[in-house]
Formats: sequence, C-alpha cells, structure tokens
Amino acid sequence: MWHPDSWQALPLSQFPPYPDAAALSRATAELRRLPPLVTTSEIDRLQSQLADAAAGKRFLLQGGDCAESFADCTSERITSKLKILLQMSLVLLHGLNVPIVRVGRIAGQYAKPRSDESETRDGITLPSYRGDLINDAEFSLAARTPDPQRLLTGYSLASLTLNYIRALTESGFTDLAEAEHWNLDFMAQSPRAADYQHIVDEVRRAFARENGHGVAAEISTAARQRGLDKMAARPDFPATGFAAAVFSAAIFPAQEVFTCHEALHLHYESALTRKASLNPDAQGRWYNFSTHLPWVGMRTADLHGAHIEYLRGIANPVAVKVGPGLSGDGLRALCERLNPARIPGRLTLIHRFGASRIQQHLPALIDAVRQDAHPVLWVCDPMHGNTQLTASGIKTRRFDDILSELEQAFALHRQQGSVLGGVHFELTGEAVTECIGGARGLDEAGLDRAYHSLVDPRLNGEQALEMALAIVRMRQGRPAIGADIPANQQVGG
Ligand code: PEP
Ligand code: CO
Repeated sequence: MWHPDSWQALPLSQFPPYPDAAALSRATAELRRLPPLVTTSEIDRLQSQLADAAAGKRFLLQGGDCAESFADCTSERITSKLKILLQMSLVLLHGLNVPIVRVGRIAGQYAKPRSDESETRDGITLPSYRGDLINDAEFSLAARTPDPQRLLTGYSLASLTLNYIRALTESGFTDLAEAEHWNLDFMAQSPRAADYQHIVDEVRRAFARENGHGVAAEISTAARQRGLDKMAARPDFPATGFAAAVFSAAIFPAQEVFTCHEALHLHYESALTRKASLNPDAQGRWYNFSTHLPWVGMRTADLHGAHIEYLRGIANPVAVKVGPGLSGDGLRALCERLNPARIPGRLTLIHRFGASRIQQHLPALIDAVRQDAHPVLWVCDPMHGNTQLTASGIKTRRFDDILSELEQAFALHRQQGSVLGGVHFELTGEAVTECIGGARGLDEAGLDRAYHSLVDPRLNGEQALEMALAIVRMRQGRPAIGADIPANQQVGG
C-alpha cells in the first residue's frame, strides 16, 4: 500500500548524512504544519496541458537553474528568470503556432544529486555540496555538514519566490502584450536582437490584424483556465481572433508560469504531501503541494528505489529523466509503475543522452513505450548528456552539442512517428559565461569571466534566446543556425 512515507521501506539513494536524526525529524514535523505552496486546480490544469503537449497541441518549455540558490531569492534574479522564459516562449509560440506551457525550474530547485560523495581541494576532503536545501557551497566542514534547518529556509524562500511570480503574473507582467518589457540587458548588443524584435512586432501586428491564431488560442485558453469553461464552451464564444483576445484578455489577462523541481529530498517532499480536501474534484487524492511538477533525476530513477515509490502515489503530473543506462524493458516497467491507468499528461519522460549517443539509444525507448501504448510526453534535455571538463577542469557544455542533440531528437521522433512535445534547459537570464559557443562565440578562455553556477553550466540569456530561435528553425525544416546572421557574428567575440 502506498502512503506518503511508504518510500521509507526502500533503498534511498543520494540521502545526505545528517549528523542529528532528531533535528531532521523536528524540521520535517515543522514542515508538515505549514501550508501548501500550490493548489490542486493548478496542478490538474498543468496535467491537462501536458497531455495536450504529448499530443502536439501545445509545447512545453521547462527551464531554469541547475541549482537554485537561496541567495538568488531577489527581485532582480526572479524577474530575469521569468523574462528569459517568457522571451523564449514568445519565440516558440510565434514559430510553432501552439500555446507554450512554461514550467520554471524555480521556487524549490534546491536539492542536487551528486556523482561524488566528497570533494578534495588542496589535499582537504569534505562532503560534496548537495544544494542549498541540504548544505552550503562554501568549502569548510561546518558549511558542508547537512543542516535540517535548511529545509525550512528552502520552503520559505520557495514560497517567497512563488509569491512574487504570482504577483507579477496577476499584475499582467507575463501577458503577451507586455513583451516589450521582457528585454534583458544583453539584448542591446545581441546579434539575435533583430530576429527577436521582428517576432515581437509580428505578434503585435497579429493582435491588431485579429488573426493571431496561436496568440488568440493561447489567450482563450487562459480564459478557460481561469474558470470560464462554461462561457468558453458556448457556441457563440469567439474561439480565435481579436474578439477572443479582447474578451479573454479583458477579463483574465494573466499568463501562467508553473513550477517544477527535482523531488530528491524525500523527507521534504513527503512532508509537503497532503490529501486534497478543498477541491471536490481532487478530494481524497494525495498531492505534492510544494510544486506543480516534481521530477526524479537519472541517478534516483531505480524502479525498486525510494524515489520511484514516492512518485508512484502522488496525483501530480510527474517526470523522470531517462538516459543511456535504461533498457526498453526497464522503461516499460517504469511507465507501468508510474502510470498504470495510462492517464494522459501524468507521465513526462525527459531524455538526456548526449549528442553522440542519442541515435543509439532513443529509438528503442520510443518503441518500448509505444509497444505498451503509454501516453507519455517526450521532452528532450540536451544539457545533461553534454557536460564536459575543459583542460583546466571547468565544467562546461558546448552550444553546438546542445543544438545537435536537439536537432537529432526532433528528427528521431519524427522518423518514429512520435511527438517531441517539449524541451528542458538549464538557463539563466544573467549574462553568465558557463557554456561555450552561441552567436557571440564565447570560447573556453572566456569561461571564467562570469562563471557563477554552483553545479552545472547554464545557457546565458542570449544563448537561451538563440536556442529558442533555433528550435523554431529546426521545426520549420530550416538549418538550426541562421544563415541570415553574418559569419563574423557567428564566430566572433
Ligand atoms: C539536473 O537536471 O540537474 C540533473 C541532475 O539531471 P540528471 O538527473 O538528468 O542528470
Ligand atoms: Co543539472
């Protein structure tokens, strides 16, 4: 029988060695008293949007920091993360002509799985940094010792972050009509600025022309989302066009941004798992109220492990990272365990192989899922299979490898008659120098100029926007990198 703590009976990997078990119990008991961060209706709405994405009727953009840090819970950092997601989603909406489901790795992406238990510097070995929810990145024994108080700080900062996202959304900041205000500083010099501005102008014209199909569809969907189902179902409800846009935007202008994080720390996740009681549609089901879309990473996706056991029983849509180690049969068993009722939108599979391995591994997994008729949403994470160390030991990823894995992913799904319904990126709106390449040609020597990530290298705002433009080109059957960009700008810098 499943219950929010049934995972406790199974092998738990990636669990930090807390020196004081009683202090951990006190912290989780405190968490259990605190209110939910998200609601069942938001969670259910996301699930139905993910079902649409699996069917090719929407597209999922999932992205954010590898490891969100407590220190980044500031107005500037939160807005810049939102801005880059919004800019990318505008490009995708315009190019793919389907509504974009935006899910931030935000408001709780604080716990990290690590390949190495410890880290050695200058002959001193200390426990690895495991994310701000667990310990501190500073290289000292005190900082690296897991501290259960951090679970409460993480909950609070997730809640502050979400509160600010909601406030911005409610006040119209995320509306398409506000696109002018999403620009980040890099846009002033970006070789892609003109491409982006062109899209913003087209969307604006589409509003004016009354036939912005994708735009109007998204806006009327927003109206439905906010409880206008009955009105929207009336035959005289304007489904598309200017009337729909005005009608919907006037009443419910806000465009939603959902949250996700890796459900790694099961004491935290289960403390925030409660039986739904308010919403009659959800009553009696167990929800993880800390985020809309919890996912399990590749290192904890063992069928017989604690993490999959936890995920199995919650009513949220869930995602699992799948990589080169997983066989077709292994994946079939995983799908059966996580979605035996084959509910559309319930299960998202995020594949992450690396540009040189995707050809070899993905087709068998697509076949396996199809064999059992599992309605999964396929998403490509082109980041985690393409991490490499430079000669000087810096963790980086090459823009071209990321692009290449994406390009192959679209092609392989197309060849197999399957749908790649979304993308998953590690990115930031800040002008960091963590990934190599992109229109400005950031090279290895430039990496240490602004390398801030505490774990994995992220695309900076400019590289992320360029990636969105490239996805559109790929989907339109054009070369991913714009031939319209002068060669000196492609490699310069
Ligand atoms: C991550 O998304 O940061 C991560 C650790 O991914 P994966 O489990 O795919 O390695
Ligand atoms: Co990562």
